[in-house]
Order: sequence, then structure tokens, then C-alpha cells
Amino acid sequence: MSADRTLLMIKPDAVAKNAIGDILQRLEAEGFVIRQMRMNHLSQEQAQGFYEVHKERPFFGELVSFMTSGPSVQVALQRENAVAHLRGFIGETDSTKAAAGTIRALFGTDIQCNAVHASDSDDNAAQEIAFYFGD
Ligand code: CMP
Repeated sequence: MSADRTLLMIKPDAVAKNAIGDILQRLEAEGFVIRQMRMNHLSQEQAQGFYEVHKERPFFGELVSFMTSGPSVQVALQRENAVAHLRGFIGETDSTKAAAGTIRALFGTDIQCNAVHASDSDDNAAQEIAFYFGD
């Protein structure tokens, strides 16, 4: 898979706010091209598997509960420098600290209900895209 792709997940809080279209519109206006997309109500096993890297963290249980609380949208995006550009565009993990105008500042609530997830490296982008869409 080319390194110009990354995975975005629109989380249950943003889906519940009816913000899918607004978020996708902003991403497209920023030059991201949607390559694959699906909506999915994650099972316990899927949420635990996707966030396995965090399984020893104190927030893991709450994170899995949150991520299985409603449907989410998984999107494979393409753009030059996709991983770093998307991380900057969505803002810091904690929505209350995210820079004005970023997706998390606009649509997130706090450190957990932060509207979206984005891959943090090219290797993780490839793994996360494969997790939802296959190789
Ligand atoms: P995300 O970028 O999807 O990666 C892990 C997720 O765990 C994070 O966004 C938040 O939704 C959630 N989370 C909850 N508490 C914390 C915390 N203290 N630090 C980092 N992530 C947290």
C-alpha cells in the first residue's frame, strides 16, 4: 500500500451529532480523496482488536464501551503526506486542547469523545486500513 494513505474513523459521538457529512466535506475540501468507506457498529472484539495497543491503559475499558456505543464510519483517505497532514487537521487527542478550527475542536467534547481517530504512522495506517478493508 502506498504511504500516501491513512485511516480516519468518525467515532460514535460525531455520528450521533449528525456530523458525518460535515467532516467528510471538510476533508475533501482539504484535498483528501476518499478511497474506501464503510459504516459499522463495532463489536466488542473489533473495538478491543483495533485498540489492542492501548489494552494496558487505564482508559481501555471506557474506550471500548464508547467505541461500541453506536455506529462509526471507517474511511481510507489518500493525499500527499496523508498521515501527518490528517493528524494536524484533526488536532490534539484532547478536544478541549485542540487548536481552533480542527475537527476535534469543532466536533469533539473531551479526551475520550474526540470525534475522530487517525492513524499515527504509515505502518499503522497500512495495518488499520487492512483491519477494516483487507489488504
Ligand atoms: P484515538 O486517537 O482514537 O486513540 C486512542 C483513544 O483513546 C483516543 O483517541 C481517545 O478516544 C481515548 N482516550 C481516552 N482517554 C485517553 C487518554 N487519557 N489518553 C489518550 N487517549 C485517551
